[in-house]
Amino acid sequence: MKRISHVMLTSLIAVGVTLPVWAQGKGDPKLGKELHVKHCQRCHGEQGKGDGPAMKAVKTVKIGDWTNREEMAKYSDQDLYKITAEGGAALGKSKLMPAYKDKLKEKEIWDLVAFIRSLAKK
Ligand code: HEC
Repeated sequence: MKRISHVMLTSLIAVGVTLPVWAQGKGDPKLGKELHVKHCQRCHGEQGKGDGPAMKAVKTVKIGDWTNREEMAKYSDQDLYKITAEGGAALGKSKLMPAYKDKLKEKEIWDLVAFIRSLAKK
């Protein structure tokens, strides 16, 4: 009996170590917001509506509105991760959307995904 519970405990710990929360696609939206202000806001806008100052002059691309639930439902979390990591071109979108995989850690990109998702809850 003692032996079994020891085995169970060990495997529970192993699962906890190999699967940190963010690896399941659950980032921290608060940390994501800080990263957004630093890296994304100038194009995507403070509220993620796509009205950042750097996009004002661009008329050829329609940037998304992260607060629009219907629009954002088109993307899976994996899509949001991929477009942020690999840039717009990776999803057949505009190259104006830069790739961040060399600038941000995997965890940070998941934090951003969580932040983006938190905007379209209503
Ligand atoms: C230089 C401007 C620019 C910056 C900086 C930028 N983006 Fe974008 N992003 C774009 C453009 C333009 C599109 C639209 C591409 C299209 O639809 O063809 C886009 C699209 C996206 C999309 C797909 C949904 C949408 O809004 O259309 C996601 C998700 C996204 N960006 C995430 C991010 C994240 C996260 C950051 C910061 C780490 C970031 N972007 C920084 C320009 C930018």
